[in-house]
Amino acid sequence: MVEGYKNKIIKLYRDHVSSGKVEFYTAIGFDLIIGRRHGPWIYDLDGRKKLLNCHCNGGVYNLGHLHPEIKKALLDALEEGIDIGNHHLISENRALLAEKLVELTPKEITRVTYGVGGGEAVDYAIKLARGYTGRYKIIYAKGGYHGHTGLALAAGDDQYKRPFEPLAPGFISVPFGDLDSLSNAIDNDTAAVIFETIPATLGMPMPPKNFYKGVRDLCDDKGSLLILDEIQTGLGRTGKLWCFEHYGIVPDIFVVGKGLSGGLYPITATLYKEELDQFMRRHPFIHVSTFGGAEIGCRVALKVLEISSDPSFLNHVNQISYRLRRILDEVMTNYNDILTEIRQIGLFIGLKMMDEGYGPLLAISSYNHGILAVYANNDRSVLQFLPPLIIGDEELIYIRERLMAAYNWAKEHKEYLELIKMML
Ligand SMILES: Cc1ncc(COP(=O)(O)O)c(C=O)c1O
Repeated sequence: MVEGYKNKIIKLYRDHVSSGKVEFYTAIGFDLIIGRRHGPWIYDLDGRKKLLNCHCNGGVYNLGHLHPEIKKALLDALEEGIDIGNHHLISENRALLAEKLVELTPKEITRVTYGVGGGEAVDYAIKLARGYTGRYKIIYAKGGYHGHTGLALAAGDDQYKRPFEPLAPGFISVPFGDLDSLSNAIDNDTAAVIFETIPATLGMPMPPKNFYKGVRDLCDDKGSLLILDEIQTGLGRTGKLWCFEHYGIVPDIFVVGKGLSGGLYPITATLYKEELDQFMRRHPFIHVSTFGGAEIGCRVALKVLEISSDPSFLNHVNQISYRLRRILDEVMTNYNDILTEIRQIGLFIGLKMMDEGYGPLLAISSYNHGILAVYANNDRSVLQFLPPLIIGDEELIYIRERLMAAYNWAKEHKEYLELIKMML
């Protein structure tokens, strides 16, 4: 690589894409530009840095980068002459992907609407809930995150929406995991309750025992719908194909994104129960998306589902999760003055620390020690830790060594905590 090329890219990005991001990253000494990538690994553009991708874009790289079978599915589809298709027409690839999605979900869920991004798919879920119930109220978790589009944004944290107000009315927040607050908020005007099955941006707080049974009962009692956002928790991340399977309930609507793309072609899906089709049947053209469920993306997603739903794959995720837990316990034993709680279900992991400066400090330290991981923006005391689901023992050894070193560095540099908190 020609010396200075990386700096040229940083300057171009600052001048034409985002000056604010470049200023922020420069201030915290984080200068990664992703270059080569394969499997669970990414390399800096200048080739000097190798990182284990434990950010995974929140699950986009569940199967690692450029998974050979997914890449082949994409190339084969192109060779066959498949392109985006026409979203208004009946489509072979959209139909076949829907068949597979429905086959992999509880029997009540029979319908699929496609999107390009997660926010769009959540918007659609909320539109469907309002359209079907004829009600307006939407209850969501305080500090949760469903995307930056219109209705999804209205169901998110205040910090992201204030500059854009007034947003859609009728959105009411409750603390996640608090059935009493939900019970007080829900009424006969409530179209839906929407939660990330476990809220990632809130730092992966685990739902209390029987929480979801209680939520399901409250929704049924009031005739409100339950929407679960499985954009980060779905597709095997938690050791089951869908996270809600852990809680013995079936949502009325759920949303899948990120990993469905295989990291190669953007595609999302909103899945819902048969009876909700009554509304869409009356209004089949009321919601369209030109690129939503692009045929070429359907081929990619089909392969992602085939791999992710294989029992031996899910078994692998559970085995690795178990072994990783032992490593994390060891880290906690050594650094219990920093790391206070391991929030883990499968490979969906939040490392909860003593102070809100530690999330960012550990993100920087991990980066400097060869692991890419980010803090939870709505609870900065948590480092989100999402390794690709395909990692094996070699990567576990790497994680143990590098994470220990990252914690050790953080322990020796506590003086940065206040500075970091001032900057964020
Ligand atoms: C739980 C959850 N829901 C929705 C979204 C929005 O998805 P997208 O960025 O594809 O619009 C995200 C993105 O991070 C997410 O993590």
